[in-house]
Amino acid sequence: MASAMELSLLNPTVHHHGIAGKAASQLPARRAFSAVRFRVRASAAAPPAAKPGSPKKRGKTEVNESLLTPRFYTTDFDEMEQLFNAEINKQLNQDEFDALLQEFKTDYNQTHFIRNPEFKEAADKMQGPLRQIFVEFLERSCTAEFSGFLLYKELGRRLKKTNPVVAEIFSLMSRDEARHAGFLNKGLSDFNLALDLGFLTKARKYTFFKPKFIFYATYLSEKIGYWRYITIFRHLKANPEYQVYPIFKYFENWCQDENRHGDFFSALLKAQPQFLNDWKAKLWSRFFCLSVYVTMYLNDCQRTAFYEGIGLNTKEFDMHVIIEVNRTSTPCLYHELCVLVASLCSVLDSFWTTAEHDNSDNCTP
Ligand SMILES: [Fe+2]
Ligand SMILES: [Fe+2]
Repeated sequence: MASAMELSLLNPTVHHHGIAGKAASQLPARRAFSAVRFRVRASAAAPPAAKPGSPKKRGKTEVNESLLTPRFYTTDFDEMEQLFNAEINKQLNQDEFDALLQEFKTDYNQTHFIRNPEFKEAADKMQGPLRQIFVEFLERSCTAEFSGFLLYKELGRRLKKTNPVVAEIFSLMSRDEARHAGFLNKGLSDFNLALDLGFLTKARKYTFFKPKFIFYATYLSEKIGYWRYITIFRHLKANPEYQVYPIFKYFENWCQDENRHGDFFSALLKAQPQFLNDWKAKLWSRFFCLSVYVTMYLNDCQRTAFYEGIGLNTKEFDMHVIIEVNRTSTPCLYHELCVLVASLCSVLDSFWTTAEHDNSDNCTP
């Protein structure tokens, strides 16, 4: 997962504390929007004059979780077990899942995520606002990837008996997401920081989505992730003067993981036609698409310094991603999505213009 679950605007009514593995019904309900903090070790300041041998992970800083912060998700695992029971659901195409499992077992990126000294050198050169915004990019991306790891790992565990093939695919996807999160966290160490993922697992609230919404959200997140990574990779390949940090060189193979994850969710959606075909499902899927796109757009518009720092125009980048996700989505979702695109540009721009206007009003003495 990459843009992973950019769904904060949806603000589902129930959040949970604890590990994703607990059945939703066992978890205490919490009011949405309440502030949570998560822990980041050390400081994002310019490279410190550290004593030789002193630990990289020093001290603690707390970071506020906002409405647009990437979230952790949980679902109704009992319903999931029913959905993937081949005796109940005759739509499940086990041959397709067997083929997908072989793809995941191949593990194309097993040796891809290997670092080199360029990372630290590039981080040390980065100063001022770009350094700060870069750290935020790494933190948010790491949290989003880790969110995917937790959800997929638990689905892998819970579906083992009902559908071992689907369960193993989830476990292998959690392997990929753990690798992505770990690589981003190593990137943070170049800036003398580290996300405490064990602490995050226990301390953060979990947002509950019914399985249907998990399918929409994860499918979109994976496809959006693919298009974001490949777009940045291609842009920096064509404009190497903006290659400020080597992590982007890894995006070409990395995004293939996200694409495979998206293809798996596409197969899952096909096996659950009730989530796509009736009028309620069509409305919900459109609502999800719009929410995901708007959240991504607002998140990115707050971080134009990052995109400009790597030579991208934020709004053009986002619209490109949205249009490509539409173009390449499965036929069932494509029809829902393409209707939105034409109006989306103006809707998003009006959201942002209104937000900017409100913000400047607030600043007026
Ligand atoms: Fe993914
Ligand atoms: Fe990922």
